[in-house]
Amino acid sequence: MPHARPRPLYGCPTVKGKSMRNIIIAANWKMHKTVPESVEFIKTLHGKVPSTARTVIVAAPFTALYRLSQAMKGTPFSLAGQNLHEEEQGAYTGEIAAGMLVDAGCRHVIVGHSERRHLFNEPDERINKKIVAALRAGLTPIFCIGETLSERDSGNTFHVIDKQINKGLNNVAADDIGRLIIAYEPVWAIGTGKTATRTQAEKVHRYIRETIGEKTAAGSHEDIAIIYGGSVTAGNVTGLLEEPNIDGVLVGGASLDAGTFAEIING
Ligand code: PGA
Repeated sequence: MPHARPRPLYGCPTVKGKSMRNIIIAANWKMHKTVPESVEFIKTLHGKVPSTARTVIVAAPFTALYRLSQAMKGTPFSLAGQNLHEEEQGAYTGEIAAGMLVDAGCRHVIVGHSERRHLFNEPDERINKKIVAALRAGLTPIFCIGETLSERDSGNTFHVIDKQINKGLNNVAADDIGRLIIAYEPVWAIGTGKTATRTQAEKVHRYIRETIGEKTAAGSHEDIAIIYGGSVTAGNVTGLLEEPNIDGVLVGGASLDAGTFAEIING
């Protein structure tokens, strides 16, 4: 296990550090897989990963969620939605509420993925409402943040991260912030084959932890899971997870094949 040894963060020997946090391996299937394909995947994955100390999450299309929740019984995997609507119910044709995700068997939901931000024009204010709605329904939001290439090249990475955290978590209680999973996904690394180096990612993860720390009770930012996403593969996952502030990964393309995803979980 990469986090078997307690490792002090920031040179401070009193912090709890990574050894207290569970490693999270999350799949984001995006708009892939039919119901039979989803069930087949879970059967194959369970064969290769009968048990694990890691938290394994699969974010599937809405149409497969309920059937998958049944297929996942007796497995160590848990289910996530990829998006939700911020209202509890109403005349919102084509949308899905947090309570419906819970009803279908989800425990988590991705919020603010860069594809939602950029392709579907979701602003931080809307993402904030979705986070509040997810928490209210008892779901764990996987809150995605990250800069574009031009924002990085112009030296604005931390500024963008600050803005996304401050607006996304506006009016979210400190205790609730402690329940989130934060996913750092630099937009330039998503689906491009261009992974942030572990050093680049660690630098931003550490910054995120410190920034979140200003919003939570003393020390509790040490418990928050901050996972990395962007061209994660079976080849680069081990190095990423060795970094003290990288608590897991959110995997897109490489999560579509059960064998590859099993290698990432076991890696
Ligand atoms: P990728 O996607 O692994 O295909 O880069 C990650 C994500 O979008 O969550």
